[in-house]
Amino acid sequence: MSKQLNSDTTPTGNVRLSRRKFVAAATAVVAAPTIVPSSVVGANAPSNRINVALIGCGNQSRVDLPSMLRQPDAQVVAVCDVNKGSDGYARPEHFLGREPAQKKVNDHYAEKTRSGQFKGCDAYADFRDVLARDDVDAVMIVLPDHWHALATVKACEAGKDVYCQKPMSLTIHDGQQMIKAVRKHGRILQTGSQYRSNAVVRRMCELVRNGRIGEVKRAISIINGSGAGPGPGWKEQPVPEGFDYDMWLGPAPEAPYHIYRCLYRFRFLQEYSGGQVTNTGAHATDIVQWALGKDHTGPVEFEHQPGIVWPPDGHLFTTAMKSHFRARYADGVEFVCRTQEPGFGARIEGTEGWVQFSVNNMKEVEASSDAIKNSVIGADEIHLPVSTNHYRNFLDSIKSRKDPIEPVEAGHRTASICHLGNIAMRLERKLQWDPEQEVFVNDADANQMLRRPYRGPWQI
Ligand SMILES: NC(=O)c1ccc[n+]([C@@H]2O[C@H](COP(=O)([O-])OP(=O)(O)OC[C@H]3O[C@@H](n4cnc5c(N)ncnc54)[C@H](O)[C@@H]3O)[C@@H](O)[C@H]2O)c1
Repeated sequence: MSKQLNSDTTPTGNVRLSRRKFVAAATAVVAAPTIVPSSVVGANAPSNRINVALIGCGNQSRVDLPSMLRQPDAQVVAVCDVNKGSDGYARPEHFLGREPAQKKVNDHYAEKTRSGQFKGCDAYADFRDVLARDDVDAVMIVLPDHWHALATVKACEAGKDVYCQKPMSLTIHDGQQMIKAVRKHGRILQTGSQYRSNAVVRRMCELVRNGRIGEVKRAISIINGSGAGPGPGWKEQPVPEGFDYDMWLGPAPEAPYHIYRCLYRFRFLQEYSGGQVTNTGAHATDIVQWALGKDHTGPVEFEHQPGIVWPPDGHLFTTAMKSHFRARYADGVEFVCRTQEPGFGARIEGTEGWVQFSVNNMKEVEASSDAIKNSVIGADEIHLPVSTNHYRNFLDSIKSRKDPIEPVEAGHRTASICHLGNIAMRLERKLQWDPEQEVFVNDADANQMLRRPYRGPWQI
């Protein structure tokens, strides 16, 4: 049976649901039925559904995919991964990749059909085949960081809205290109910093914004540490069957294959990510930025601090195992990012007290006094936008065409602090940053680190 496609003439409100033509990719499984019946999505007629594709079916897809499947007005129509399916991810019990993800989607919808059958989710190895589909409205980019900018820019050019995982970018230049693409093509981008959709984080930020801790003096981004990976003498491994390593590398330099380079642990190699500074640090720093109301700017000075630990020579991993840098905003507020186990969080200190959010205590804001902790924010005070579910907020934005809770500019500024801190830790000197022009002042070496050369045909 051929695919049922929504027609161009169907009124779609604000949602761009063009269904001109279905481009069947060679890798796609074509079977019926392919549109989720209305018994599954309730009152949401097919014309109001948002067709979503998941690009990157690894560790974090275990959260992002079920979260999207739970949304009644979304249908996951495609999944994509360069890995057909394997273990080797964050935990030994995880078997992930495009085929397991495809099965998860089909099983989810099948459970809700009367026949108990559903095979409408297609699996792809090349994300460009996903972007070529006219019936895909939005993509979830859950790829290693070195792919975020390219995949986002290409998705915007193809007219898709984007949920892009944090850290939004790999470099300052990447983030700038992402902003340009989103705005030029009129797309929605939600950065996958889901703590903005957490009520405790929102309350902490509102306490700060409404002066409950007095004048803000210092903000601390508390992040995790990491290991050194395989030690000296680690050996190149054969690329597993069903894994397109060249496509995994994409714009990054050629490098010998090792499973610890790729699945999940890519975040500890500088070519693909920024270590814990951009991993848990993207969350913690994002909370700081929201609390301080600095979404369109950043600090003006960065400096490495004592206690930074790098992997010893010869190890596979190259990002800091323990991190520590400080920065300063133009208004004098100090920013500190440091490794402090057991987990990440953000703390804001002012002249009259402090507030803190910790991932180990998601139930309540911690504060220096009960008066601060229990303080009521009045109706005429500052209230931040409310999102109770990051995926729901993304879909609502697709419909309203209004920015989501963490638009591309905010994602860029948060990621920028992480990248600039990493550069200061590497160069081991104080750096002056111009957040308007987005350049270091009088430092050619540091400015060279704001972008990276892309390999082969991959350019933005
Ligand atoms: N928001 C959060 O709390 C959170 C948590 C974990 C990870 N993340 C983010 O999610 C992203 C992915 O991290 P992860 O832990 O899932 O990594 P992962 O390695 O487990 O998964 C990434 C997947 O992408 C695939 N892939 C790589 N290049 C590809 C390409 N060109 N086309 C298609 N597939 C490709 C890999 O094969 C892998 O299966 C990272 O940016 C990470 O920071 C966010």
